[in-house]
Amino acid sequence: MTMKRNIIITGGAGFIGSHVVRLFVNKYPDYHIINVDKLTYAGNLKNLTDIENKPNYTFVKADICDYDKMLELMREYNVDGVIHLAAESHVDRSIKDPFTFAKTNVMGTLSLLQAAKVYWESLPEKYEGKRFYHISTDEVYGALELTHPEGIEPPFSTKASSGTHHECYGEEFFVETTKYNPHSPYSAAKASSDHFVRAYHDTYGMPTVVTNCSNNYGPYQFPEKLIPLFINNIRHRKPLPVYGKGENVRDWLYVEDHARAIDTIFHDGTIAETYNIGGFNEWKNIDIIKVIIKTVDRLLGNPEGYSDELITYVTDRAGHDLRYAIDSRKLQAELGWEPSLQFEEGIEKTVRWYLDNQEWMDNITSGDYQKYYESMYGNR
Ligand code: NAD
Ligand code: DAU
Repeated sequence: MTMKRNIIITGGAGFIGSHVVRLFVNKYPDYHIINVDKLTYAGNLKNLTDIENKPNYTFVKADICDYDKMLELMREYNVDGVIHLAAESHVDRSIKDPFTFAKTNVMGTLSLLQAAKVYWESLPEKYEGKRFYHISTDEVYGALELTHPEGIEPPFSTKASSGTHHECYGEEFFVETTKYNPHSPYSAAKASSDHFVRAYHDTYGMPTVVTNCSNNYGPYQFPEKLIPLFINNIRHRKPLPVYGKGENVRDWLYVEDHARAIDTIFHDGTIAETYNIGGFNEWKNIDIIKVIIKTVDRLLGNPEGYSDELITYVTDRAGHDLRYAIDSRKLQAELGWEPSLQFEEGIEKTVRWYLDNQEWMDNITSGDYQKYYESMYGNR
């Protein structure tokens, strides 16, 4: 029997947020989960059709920058926990439109923090039993050197990195005390939001926790990001735009493993702490792209190598960070979290999901997904 809780999850109709909402709604029937999302281009209620009618779930279309609305929601639902994922999340968009990133990621986080502060401080028990959990990214730490282009054994292995490819590309890793050094407008805005969250703990005593996770992959990711974009392009025989030489390294984690980590940390993480989340699973972009091509071709019944010709090297992303690699041993040692899925299994599962859910993808590429809100909730 779990305690009754009222939790706002922001950004729940996006990629990671939808997995977190699903996990909490299904696992904790005594919790009331209030999904607060503005439904920007990245928000898609079709990500949550399986739980949308559950009695412990409420969807509210709202902008986290709207402080009055956030305070109203805190009061209306007697909120005692916030899990904050809503953000502008795509680096390429931040290069073209940095203002929107500063507004949502910085001012949106600040308005949510202030609403929680004002509401919680108005209660007799104040911050007791409350928690503000901010989801952040490894990108705030900047970029690591790629000192071993051919790869070396990682210092620590996890289920995620236990497949045939277990490489890392440098000796250094991001740890929780690594100095912030963001390079893109996206990561600069996320870094700023992290600082605000910590400031609310240090200044007002708000019970906060921050996590910084590596690249996620899996179902329901918006097809502007590398993996779903490439799967969809292969299916439509469209070019696969590889930035630069494809040598940048990312550390990949299956999205449900991230959601499980969020569950663990929300409940058991120590107040004011930071936890890194990752699976010691580094891949060069070009290597991961080859795995995707091979998997899609096999599942579509194409001959091996059929889609290799779609690889198209294009101008590099401005300020493209060379290598991200997370050391998540603190989380493992203190809270016992580990990735549960081997990367090759995760990629197979992911590619299958996108190929089996072409309607979901076509709804996005046609723009139809944005009409779903009105059909569900009317024109509110
Ligand atoms: P996403 O872009 O798929 O989803 C973001 C969601 O936030 C969307 O549903 C969108 O409608 C909502 N949103 C945007 N602006 C809003 C606003 N002003 N008010 C209310 N809702 C708003 O993002 P994602 O990839 O799921 O990332 C979720 C969070 O996790 C982000 O904070 C991101 O920085 C962080 N993160 C992502 C990754 C990753 O690999 N995707 C890794 C580490 C951390
Ligand atoms: O590290 C965590 C971050 O991972 C999150 O904070 C971000 O929200 C999330 O978008 C992701 O950022 P990346 O920039 O690493 O993800 P993206 O999928 O955009 O790109 C992955 C890598 O692939 C990156 O090195 C750029 C490259 N790329 C991407 C696209 C979209 C290409 O070569 N071609 C492409 O078309």
